[in-house]
Amino acid sequence: MAVGQGVERLAGAAMAVPPIKKAWLRIADDGTVTDFGREADLMVSEIGNEKVVDACHGMVIPTFCDSHTHIIYAGSRDGEFLDKINGLSYEEIARRGGGILNSADRLARASEDELFEAARDRAVDMIAKGTGAMEIKSGYGLTTESELKMLRVAARLREALPVPVRITFLGAHAVGREYAGRQADYVKMLIDEMLPAVAAQGLAQYVDVFCDEGFFTVDETDRILTAAARYGIKPKIHANELACSGGVQVGIAHGALSVDHLERMGQAEIEALAASETIATMLPGASFFLGMPYAPARAAVDAGLPVALASDFNPGSSPSGDMRFVWALGCIKMKLRPDEALTACTLNGAAAMGLSATHGAIRKGAPASFIITRPVPSLAYIPYAYTTPWIQAMYLNGKNC
Ligand code: NIG
Ligand code: FE
Repeated sequence: MAVGQGVERLAGAAMAVPPIKKAWLRIADDGTVTDFGREADLMVSEIGNEKVVDACHGMVIPTFCDSHTHIIYAGSRDGEFLDKINGLSYEEIARRGGGILNSADRLARASEDELFEAARDRAVDMIAKGTGAMEIKSGYGLTTESELKMLRVAARLREALPVPVRITFLGAHAVGREYAGRQADYVKMLIDEMLPAVAAQGLAQYVDVFCDEGFFTVDETDRILTAAARYGIKPKIHANELACSGGVQVGIAHGALSVDHLERMGQAEIEALAASETIATMLPGASFFLGMPYAPARAAVDAGLPVALASDFNPGSSPSGDMRFVWALGCIKMKLRPDEALTACTLNGAAAMGLSATHGAIRKGAPASFIITRPVPSLAYIPYAYTTPWIQAMYLNGKNC
């Protein structure tokens, strides 16, 4: 699965990238792709004494680019899982003081080392499942001290992991407990205290707001994103998960790199996105786990949008960072074609992290980060046989790992 030089996102029908049959790929000593093509075009005499790896009838696809995760958290929320089984909704659990605030309480008690180790284990597991680039958000701190603690852990992960990591400040994930009933004061504190500290320490590339019913309003989102812009921090926001909240439009108005979730989205939102540069990022793992509607990926692609799919790995709404499953849900539940959904999980995910000049596709000069699949009858077989193991080998920067 290869795309042309300079292509940094694919929209609409162009997301269906055709595979090259009987292909070869050459990797330089520095771990970048030198060239690729069809077997028929490769002169055997050109091979010289290079090391040759036979893909044994497997396919070669780019590693996944997971553009939306919350992998830094303490403990889990398996207690709330029982509440959920007993019929409580995500919003009801949050209203009872569970949800994000439950994770914030645990995170406040955890040391930086504990958080780092737990998140590193999750990230290593994601990489073993095919992820080759990821975004990581704060948002379980909800005090200046704890948000900065999370962002420092994210920076350590970026140093420690063998894949690129992009970091997003999500202080506006929920109102911290100390500010219960004083949401306006929390937003003021976020703008006057948290954001300047995050910016001064250079800890985040992006800013996020949970702009949705029961969380932050469009007006609050507008003020937070305006403040972030003064520091040159671009938005990637949570929008339209719980209601048609106006989140999509406010994100677009601020030049958001992506608006994420989009389970409640109508024609107005699709049209607004079509007239923008903002990527529509959809998180089918959250719909699966919470029993919510799936975001309208098919309609979005048919309307010509660039759609990305991401895991939303977090303890409350998507306790999985398995992009293989996200790919399968994109096809089974969102009715994307296997090739479209793969582009959504790779190149467009990279674009939603500002990484698509180098990641998300197999391209000359780019890091050789790809997966060799086991022999499969077709690309469609992979998301179709969605619990059958299919990764034969994985390469990051030209190295088998
Ligand atoms: O993307 N919706 C907001 N934030 C997360 C869930 C966070 C949580 O429940 O811990 C999400 O689904
Ligand atoms: Fe999220």
